[in-house]
Amino acid sequence: MHIVFDAYGTLWNVSQIEEACREEVGVQAAGALLELWRKKQLEYAFLRTVMGRYVPFERVTADALAFALASLQLQVSAEASRRLVEAWSHPEAYADALPLLQRLTGHQRAILSNGDPGMLARGVEATGMGEHLGAVLSVAPQEHYKPHPDAYQLVCDFWNVDPEDIVFVSSNGWDVAGASHFGFQTIWINRSDLPQEGLGAPRVARVSSLAELPSALDQAGLLSHE
Ligand code: LAC
Repeated sequence: MHIVFDAYGTLWNVSQIEEACREEVGVQAAGALLELWRKKQLEYAFLRTVMGRYVPFERVTADALAFALASLQLQVSAEASRRLVEAWSHPEAYADALPLLQRLTGHQRAILSNGDPGMLARGVEATGMGEHLGAVLSVAPQEHYKPHPDAYQLVCDFWNVDPEDIVFVSSNGWDVAGASHFGFQTIWINRSDLPQEGLGAPRVARVSSLAELPSALDQAGLLSHE
């Protein structure tokens, strides 16, 4: 089986970014800043894909930060903004992420992320996941962010397999919707018991943690050749 993971928020916890926000704008403003920053980061990635105006994810992240700071009337130095953007390159692994990747040894495992290749390489190093991943794929080469179908196609091209031979795992409802419409078998890591996005995704199983993934795969008959 070929198993593909989203990175930020799925294998990688972004809590250290919240920590960086606290350091730069104070505890009171950090929560609102991070919430708006992440919302705008996604929105800008989607909009740039729709507009055909790709820029690297680090630039999207910096542009979203600038908007969020201005919107909340927060002022930080250029150096502080750089430190905040840089925090995306130093994620922590969720506690159940490395044990899961180890448990899935014997299967093809990869990341497919909207992150730039450099950000992802630094993230893989920071989380110690390199030896457990056969590939770390960034959408950068084809300049369309997920959930554009071209982004998911990268995985099929890399392994030369059909979409139905891929299990795609993400904590983002919009991402599992896109992957599911593309034809992947998808599993949604729904840690916060969120409602399903109203995007008409046809093949989405859901679990509440990465630790539950092996039994979900097993139940679906997807670990059979192990
Ligand atoms: C990723 C973000 C969007 O692609 O979660 O890693």
